[in-house]
This record gives sequence, C-alpha cells and structure tokens, in this order.
Amino acid sequence: MKRVAVVTSGGDAPGMNAAVRAVVRAGIARGLAVYGIQHGYEGLIGGQFKRLGPRDVGGIIGHGGTFLGTTRCERMKTAAGQVAAVQQLQNHDIDALVVIGGNGSQAGSLALSQRGVRVVGVASTIDNDLPGSEPSIGAMTAMDIALESVDRLRVTASAHRRAFLVEVMGRASGHLALITGLTGGAEAIVIPESDVSPESVATQIHEAYDRGKRHAIVVVAEGASYNAERMAAYFDEHAQRLGFDLRVTKLGHVQRGGAPGVFDRLLATRLGAAAIERLCAGEHGALLGQVDGKIAATPLATVVGVTKSLDTSLLELARILAT
Ligand code: F6P
Repeated sequence: MKRVAVVTSGGDAPGMNAAVRAVVRAGIARGLAVYGIQHGYEGLIGGQFKRLGPRDVGGIIGHGGTFLGTTRCERMKTAAGQVAAVQQLQNHDIDALVVIGGNGSQAGSLALSQRGVRVVGVASTIDNDLPGSEPSIGAMTAMDIALESVDRLRVTASAHRRAFLVEVMGRASGHLALITGLTGGAEAIVIPESDVSPESVATQIHEAYDRGKRHAIVVVAEGASYNAERMAAYFDEHAQRLGFDLRVTKLGHVQRGGAPGVFDRLLATRLGAAAIERLCAGEHGALLGQVDGKIAATPLATVVGVTKSLDTSLLELARILAT
C-alpha cells in the first residue's frame, strides 16, 4: 500500500480536523503518500484530490468543522455515483480510503467496499447514533455546547420564573437530548425513542411549578414527533396547563460549530492513527470506533442502517432527580 486518501463526509463534527491530521501524519510516518479529498463525496466523484503534507494539517487539531470541506451527497447513493467514485480512486492510484463521518457516510463506505475499494470508516457524528462507537467523534463537544446553553437558559428562566423548551439536534435519535437533559437537570426530556404526549409534558411542567420551582427546562430532540415547534404550538393553545410563562430556544447548528474539547481531540487522534495502522495491517471494510474505552473495528455491514440503542432508563433517572 502506497497511496491513501481521506475524506470527511456528511454533517461536520468537532474533531474531524483532528482525525484528518492523525491520518495524514500517521500515514506519512508509515511512508505513505496521503491525499485529502475536498468537499466530501461530491469531491470524490468530481476528482478533487490534493496531496497533503505535515504542514497542511498544522494548527487544525483544535478547530471545529473540517478544513477539507464536506457535503451531503445524493449522488453517492446511486450506482452511477459509486462507479464514478471508484473510477476516480483508480485514476489517482489510491490504494485505500479513510471515510470520516456518520451513518449516511458509512453507507457510502460500505457501498465502495462492496465495489472492491479498501475502505476504513471513522465514526464521527454529533448525533452519536452510529453503532460501533460510544461515543462518536463530535458528540461530547456538541453535548458540552448544548449543556452550557441549558445552564444559561436556566439562569434567565429562574430570574423570570419561566419554562423553556430547548430543542437540540438529533435527526432520528435522542442521544444528545437525553444526556443534555439529564446532566442539565431538565424537568422533562422528549426523545424519539420514548415519545411522550404534550399533555404529559405539560403536567410535568405544572408539577414543577406547584413544587415551587423557579424554572422548568424541557429538552426536546429535533427528531421527536413533538419537536419544539409542535410542542410550542400545543402549549400556545393550552397555556394555563403550564403554570409558567414559556419561551422556546432552538439550538440548531450552534451545537456543531464548536472547537473540539479534549475528549474529541483524543478520540479523533486515536481513531485517525488507528485507521492507518489497520489499513497497513491489511484490514478494511470496517468502522473504527471506541467500544468499552478501546479502539475497535466493527464490520461496516453490521453498522450501516442499524439503529444504535439508547439507555432509556436514564429518562426515569432524570425524572426522579428533577423533583
Ligand atoms: O450531522 C447530524 C446533524 O447535525 C443532525 O443532528 C441534524 O438533523 C442534521 O445534521 C442537520 O443537517 P444539515 O446540516 O444538513 O442541515
């Protein structure tokens, strides 16, 4: 193996740059030529390859986002797009590819692997919904950002004796909302894995009011059937059910844009370097992630399209502790 390429794909996550840096420098230390693919799978299909040296990745370990750029690429879901991607890798004499991304991106990894490309995936998504890594790169930093926001909102909520609906990211998964809600001392948590009715959330809010609390924080995952918008519409019509006056804050992409904290820098560094080690050892077709605190490889075929489970007992714990 002489030439390796690395691509970041899908939603950016804090730590992606640290992972690219590790791939590049570990690869060069192994005597490999390393190429960065710009703009995600669109750049792969379009042939946007750039040879990277150690200085090209200097100073990026602490930067959020991805200096390679990323895209959500519909073409990679098609046979024509996948064939074009394989062709580009052959045109550039690339022997192996490292794909840093979440579920959709690793579906692309699997498709390329099934077309004969030597691929290793690196688990990276703030949603933390990818089996094969607990957590994935970016999730911890995103949760820290969401938690800081919840702490700030509680300050102003208490000052006015208000309730806040705080919507956090998580398209189909409540990992972010559950951990942010539990560690932020939320009075209620709403996640897709355990949907609750707005009536029962209203009851929880009113109970907090009756207990004399000066605030009520409800953390809602964007993927819940009652997301913040729908929940707020219901509360608008039934304001008397809450006790508190209500405000709504949607954190959105703010959670993705932070600088990676120590956990994500370390995880990304270990996974990026491990990707090179595994490829050099002849392994491919796997996702690299953290399992029980250790770096582990899980076959792509067993993680793609699979829903990562979530510890819903933490919901009950959050409820007990919110009294
Ligand atoms: O990358 C995951 C994620 O942040 C989800 O939580 C969110 O639903 C989605 O990406 C937003 O995607 P986009 O940045 O394409 O709007």
